[in-house]
Order: sequence, then C-alpha cells, then structure tokens
Amino acid sequence: MTTNNFKKNILCIGAGYVGGPTMTIIANKCPDYKITVVDISKERIDAWNSDQLPIFEPGLKERVLKVRGKNLFFSTDIDAAIDQADIIFVSVNTPTKNFGEGAGKAVDLQYIEQTARRIKENSRSNKIVVEKSTLPVRAAETLETILHSGKNGVHFEILSNPEFMAEGSGVRDMEFPDRVLIGSKDTPSGLAARKELVDVYLHWVPEENLITTNLWSSELSKLVSNAFLAQRISSINSIAAICEVTEADVTEVSKAVGRDSRIGAKFLNAGPGFGGSCFRKDILNLVYLCEYYQLNEIASFWEQVVTLNDYQMERYVKRILQVMFNTLVGKKLAVFGFAFKPDTGDTRDAPAIYICKRLLEEKACLRITDPHALKNARKDLEGIDSEVEYIEDPYKAAEGVHGIALITEWTEYSKLDYQKIFDKMEKPAFIFDGRNHLDHKALFDIGFNVYSVGKAPLTHF
Ligand code: NAD
Ligand code: UGA
Repeated sequence: MTTNNFKKNILCIGAGYVGGPTMTIIANKCPDYKITVVDISKERIDAWNSDQLPIFEPGLKERVLKVRGKNLFFSTDIDAAIDQADIIFVSVNTPTKNFGEGAGKAVDLQYIEQTARRIKENSRSNKIVVEKSTLPVRAAETLETILHSGKNGVHFEILSNPEFMAEGSGVRDMEFPDRVLIGSKDTPSGLAARKELVDVYLHWVPEENLITTNLWSSELSKLVSNAFLAQRISSINSIAAICEVTEADVTEVSKAVGRDSRIGAKFLNAGPGFGGSCFRKDILNLVYLCEYYQLNEIASFWEQVVTLNDYQMERYVKRILQVMFNTLVGKKLAVFGFAFKPDTGDTRDAPAIYICKRLLEEKACLRITDPHALKNARKDLEGIDSEVEYIEDPYKAAEGVHGIALITEWTEYSKLDYQKIFDKMEKPAFIFDGRNHLDHKALFDIGFNVYSVGKAPLTHF
C-alpha cells in the first residue's frame, strides 16, 4: 500500500512504553521504511510530538529527534494510518482483568479486540498484523477470527513478535537484543509474512539472534520468559528471609550460587519485591491459562511466585515497624525512590506503592523523593496522601526524619553525603536499604542503625 518513496509503511497502534521506543529504534535503523505510531490518547501523541516525551528512557529522546518528521510520525489519525499500512504492530495495553470472569488473573482483551475491529473496518489491502503486546497463548486465533469475519476480501496474516526489552535499558535492549522472536503459521502466506518481518530486523540484528517458531510457541515464550525472571527474584527473596535469621548474607549467597554457569548471576538481587507493569500480570496470565486447562498444580506453582512477592513487600514494612519500636505514629520517614526500578519514571505496580500505603496505615508521615517518578507517585497515592510530602531534593526529604527507606536503587543515592544527612536526622537514626545499594559499614560508622535485605543488621543498640 506504499504510496511514497518508502519501501514499506509500518504502523504501530499504541504509543506507550513499548510502541514509542520500539518504533523509534526501527525508524532509526530502517530509513527505507515509513513508521507511523498512533494512539487513542491525543495527550500521548502530543507529547511524542513535543520536547517533553511521555516516557523517560535513557537515550530515547536523541533517537526520536533524529528521525521524527523524516520517517517517524506520531498521529491520532488511526483510520487513515491503518488504510495506508503494510505491516501493523499492535502494541496496546493488556492489563489484568479487574471484573467478571477471570478477574484478578485473566488478561483484559478489550483493547486488543477494539484494535482488531478497527483494523478490519479500515483495511482495503492485505496486511500483516504483528502481536507486539503480550497476549495469552492462542490469542492470534481470536485476532484472525475477528479480522477475517465479514467478507471484504482482504487477507490478514498474523505474526507474534513479543517484546523483551526492560525499562531503563530499553534502547540498549532493542538495539542489541539477545534475541528477536517471530512466530508465524507454517503456511506459504505465513512464511512470506515472517520473511517480511525478518527483513525489517535484519537491518541491525544478526541473523543468528532471530528465532522463528510457530505462533503458539512465540506467544507462550513471552509469558514464560517473564515468569522465569520473576521466579528468580522470588527465589532469592525467599533466601533473603532465611539469611536475616541465620546471619548468612544474601549478597554472598547469590554470588556463590550465581557463579555456577548453569544458574547464572543475573536477576539474583534481593529487594523489596519485583514491580513493573508486566511480571505480576504475565504470571497471573500464565496461572489463568493453567487453570483454564485444569493444570491446577502448575497454576499453584507459578502463583506462588506472586504470593512470595507480596510477602516480601509486607516483610519489608513489618521490619521497619518492629525495628522502630513497634509504632510509626507521627514518625517521619524519608522514602528514597518510588519508581519500580531506576532509570525510569514508571511506577506501575511499584513496590513503593504498596509499601507507602502500608506505612501510611501505620500513621507514619512520608517524605517521598525520586529523580523522575514524583509526578506518578502523586497520582498513585492520590486521596491518601495528606501525610505525604513529595520532595525533589533527597537532602531536604531526609531533614528531621526518624528513618530512611530506600526502595529504588538510583545511582545518585549511593553518592549522597550521608554524614550531612545523618546530622540533620532524629536520633536514633535508621536506614532500611531495600536494595542493598549503599555502603552499610560506612553508614554504621557514621552512626546509622542499618537494616538491609537478607543481611544481619548493623546497630548501635
Ligand atoms: P502502555 O499502557 O504504556 O501503552 C499502551 C497504549 O495503547 C496507550 O497509550 C493506550 O492509549 C493505547 N491504546 C489502547 N487501546 C487503543 C486502541 N484501541 N487504539 C489505539 N491505541 C490504544 O503499555 P505498554 O507498557 O507500552 O505495554 C504494551 C504491551 O506491551 C503490553 O501488552 C505489555 O505487556 C507489553 N510489554 C510491555 C513492556 C514494558 O516494558 N512496558 C515490555 C514488553 C512487553
Ligand atoms: C521485565 C523483563 O525484564 C523484560 O524482559 C520484559 O520485556 C518486561 O518485563 C515486560 O514484559 O514488561 P521490566 O519490568 O521493565 O522488564 O524490568 P526488570 O529489569 O525486569 O525489573 C522488574 C522488577 O524486578 C523491578 O522492580 C526490579 O527492581 C526487580 N528486580 C530485578 C529485582 O528485584 N531483582 C533483580 O535481580 C532484578
């Protein structure tokens, strides 16, 4: 359907954390393709067209500015863009359903279905439709049924191409992916569509990093990848609890265990629990799938990863409460970091939300600081934040507080002058390093009582 000098027109529906960055990278790497990104949210599209991008991701802005208006376009004219597209990536949100059948576990597929219907209504030529969103296994079947219902003679070929990038390192992950996964049907038209998508990625991804599978393997592999990653975090967090009562040190244990090349060193950092928009949702999606197929033992195996994560967040709160003499009423606590991980302003399902809510229930007064997530923090705690202050400067946030709870391991927090901070805190001064991010011995020497995850406390009592 190309009517310009570009080889192909690529469209992405959904200009979020995945759609915006992935299309920016494709536009940078494929100057011969025209890329359009559309969304129902005018506010989001306006932001992508402005100097204040809607998301913070290191390295993203430079790359947007390099190609925006050349071969990368952000628009709200969804219908026209569909009509002109050859390849359509679907990158809309797929949250956990919070109503009716499957509430709390199944994926809410309403945005996917709305998108499919809109594609069908506005297509006058054959198109490749690529599942970029994370979807339940066999979702492609549903998409295909919707797209081919009615008889307008247009053929749609569905591919699955899940995204594996992690926020904060998204640009690097997409420029140098461990692998790109493409699932297709094993039919002539399926294989032809697969080749078209492979050609896009071959602009920068080495051929040996492209994995092609059938549709269902591709859809399932995405859920399994997130489940395995989250499972490692819950595993090490469970060991952290054992360390705290035995005086073993979780950092030493994870180093010793991770040195086994069969296990590997990554994703073994104990913390306050995993957050982010996907781990919980995707595991629950897998759990729901298992229950649907009556694989109940398997469902409970994976559900336990989420249960352990909830337990870890609660354990962090309980420790603060117990250590601070079993009452937080009127006590001031500085919260260092609200984003679910560093280098992002994203707070979706951030452990900080749960932890702050619980601390507020205990009637603590919170001073929250974060380099990029304060705007989202305000939204997350709206209506319950009469005892919350949002303060950009961590030194100011810590002035006069009884304790510091470090929840996100921003690099800047390891570089602060903790003597200066200690001098202006109430005594005894407590620090709860939820990420084992700080120099605990140095903090102890300054006078802090130091509580970290999976380690014996260092206290002056
Ligand atoms: P997001 O909420 O940031 O973005 C989704 C966008 O889709 C929103 O801007 C929304 O307005 C838009 N949208 C919804 N319905 C629409 C419609 N009918 N037409 C046009 N636009 C519509 O979500 P996200 O974080 O980008 O995630 C998108 C998908 O990618 C999810 O399935 C998620 O699981 C998956 N994923 C996310 C990440 C991540 O790091 N965030 C990584 C890998 C995969
Ligand atoms: C995760 C996956 O890493 C991506 O591959 C995937 O594409 C993405 O989910 C998705 O599907 O959305 P993301 O959630 O952006 O990416 O970030 P991660 O780096 O995986 O961190 C998730 C959470 O786990 C964070 O809260 C982080 O602090 C926590 N974490 C991570 C730990 O507590 N310990 C670790 O060792 C690693």
